[in-house]
Amino acid sequence: MKLKYWSLALLFAFLGSCKTQKTLKKSEDKKDLFTLFEEDPSIKTFYSDKKGVFGKNGMVASAHAEASQAGLDILKAGGNAVDAAVATHFALAVVFPFAGNLGGGGFAVIRNKNGKAFTLDFREKAPLKAHRDMYLDSAGNVINGLSLKGHLASGVPGSVDGMVEMHQKHGKLPWTKLLEPAIRLAGEGVVLTEREALGLNNNVQVFEEVNGKASPYFKKPDGSKWVKGDLLVQKDLATTLEAIQKHKREGFYAGKVADQLVAEMQKGGGIISIEDLKKYHSAWRTPLQAKYKEFNIITMPPSSSGGVALIQLLRFTEPYPLQKWGWNSEKTVQVMIEAERRVYADRAKWMGDMDFVKVPMAELISYKYLRERWSNYDSTKATKSIDISGGLVPGYESDETTHYSVVDGEGNAVSITTTLNGAYGSKVIVQGAGFLMNNEMDDFSIKAGVPNMFGLIGNKANEIAPEKRMLSSMTPTIVEKDGKLLMVVGTPGGSTIITSVYQTILNVTDHKMSMQQAVNALKFHHQWLPDRTVFEPNAITENAAKNLRNKGYEIDQQKGTLGRMDCIMVHPDGTLEGASDPRADNTSKGY
Ligand code: DON
Repeated sequence: MKLKYWSLALLFAFLGSCKTQKTLKKSEDKKDLFTLFEEDPSIKTFYSDKKGVFGKNGMVASAHAEASQAGLDILKAGGNAVDAAVATHFALAVVFPFAGNLGGGGFAVIRNKNGKAFTLDFREKAPLKAHRDMYLDSAGNVINGLSLKGHLASGVPGSVDGMVEMHQKHGKLPWTKLLEPAIRLAGEGVVLTEREALGLNNNVQVFEEVNGKASPYFKKPDGSKWVKGDLLVQKDLATTLEAIQKHKREGFYAGKVADQLVAEMQKGGGIISIEDLKKYHSAWRTPLQAKYKEFNIITMPPSSSGGVALIQLLRFTEPYPLQKWGWNSEKTVQVMIEAERRVYADRAKWMGDMDFVKVPMAELISYKYLRERWSNYDSTKATKSIDISGGLVPGYESDETTHYSVVDGEGNAVSITTTLNGAYGSKVIVQGAGFLMNNEMDDFSIKAGVPNMFGLIGNKANEIAPEKRMLSSMTPTIVEKDGKLLMVVGTPGGSTIITSVYQTILNVTDHKMSMQQAVNALKFHHQWLPDRTVFEPNAITENAAKNLRNKGYEIDQQKGTLGRMDCIMVHPDGTLEGASDPRADNTSKGY
């Protein structure tokens, strides 16, 4: 059964909702970026009053303390931000199987100390045997769950190739060293947090359903339920990591691990072959860069829609005095919702893997196009999503994730979002190799107009084809001010990634929050279809919500939370502020 798109946020929020909320005040007269938001007892702005982590020499922000520590140790050993990112990635694959991965893919945005930007697309690809209608029955209807669970749901993994590529081009320390923390954590074990223990317990049944009752993976040896403090040991995964440590790319895409992966696929009716693994390569792409006010945004071009969408959003609302109107005031929220509606409609119409379809990127982010697209905006009432479709671009035919940020002492910065897609991906664990496979195929438009697990709709541009990459919403981003590194940002959250990154950036650039405040700040989300805005408790005041409803907006508070941001800001004196989301176990570590 298809999940509703906001169920992801609910999933994230399984340990409860807002607890402590510090109350702060917006100050309209403070124009300086680094003058912080001030207190106003009438507005509850933040999920919690978690404080940022500060350091001068390096910072790693990720979903798990052990993974951030792995990156930090590499920085302290003389590694650069790319080395630390690689170590963090492999550590996450061990300590955060929910989304950290070997069997998934992702995107990296890198800005080196000289200000040069690079983007690496290590998104999964459809296997060679994939075809457009592979998830439809003979009557042309979607077979429920086939693109989400089990062996057929996986794309060809990209993460290991991505890490090797990134290190070959930008790394400094020897490759073997970067795998050490992950191998240790897998072999000796990692202490489970309450959240992870619960996540594993909740999935016992589905792991058994997909892998068979005899599968030993993610089961507590004595058969009881996992509890906080238990040690999760993953010996097979340690062996796989050792193969990658020794043979780099070949340790995963060839030899024993590749054989194990293909045997697993054959066992369960999957279609990934040795040929697929051999042919998989990540792709360096030209970074998408655009000005927003006095800032330069460096972000990901397709096969993620995130970068184009983020720039469209920022530029739609650029003409409006958001700071003067106030954080999440009625006017501010209204223009943001209307921007989001138009942007997600464009995403559905235009975006797909640029190796297969022509995406009119320059047009979509041009002020001329955006002005035209905004012309039916009416501040007195809601535009109806049913009246909006993807915009017209002349000359063109219509046709559970994790983020980590790293900055080193020299100012090299890395922003990476990576995923298996759903929580624990397809739930398939490669027998003997101990890692989970993705269910990324669901990010394709498996049938035109049918929503995916995030409620996102797609069309021809994102239909399945062999070796094509499925469209993503991942939005790893780096922001510069005056030619200098200002922020490294990103989050998981499926379709809500784009709007969470958008709000976090605006919270700093327009609302003058610190990095941690911007992360702590409550969030809302709209994605064109369904025509509905959801918000975290207190993200929009009762009064603003009432007025928006009167204008025709469907706007609902949800129990769950939005975003799991891991961000870093560079303050004018060079101090790094690591800001990890208070909504989960996310932790920044710096020195
Ligand atoms: O690429 C995408 O947009 C999705 N596969 C991301 C999935 C995600 O963020 C799930 N996690 N929270």
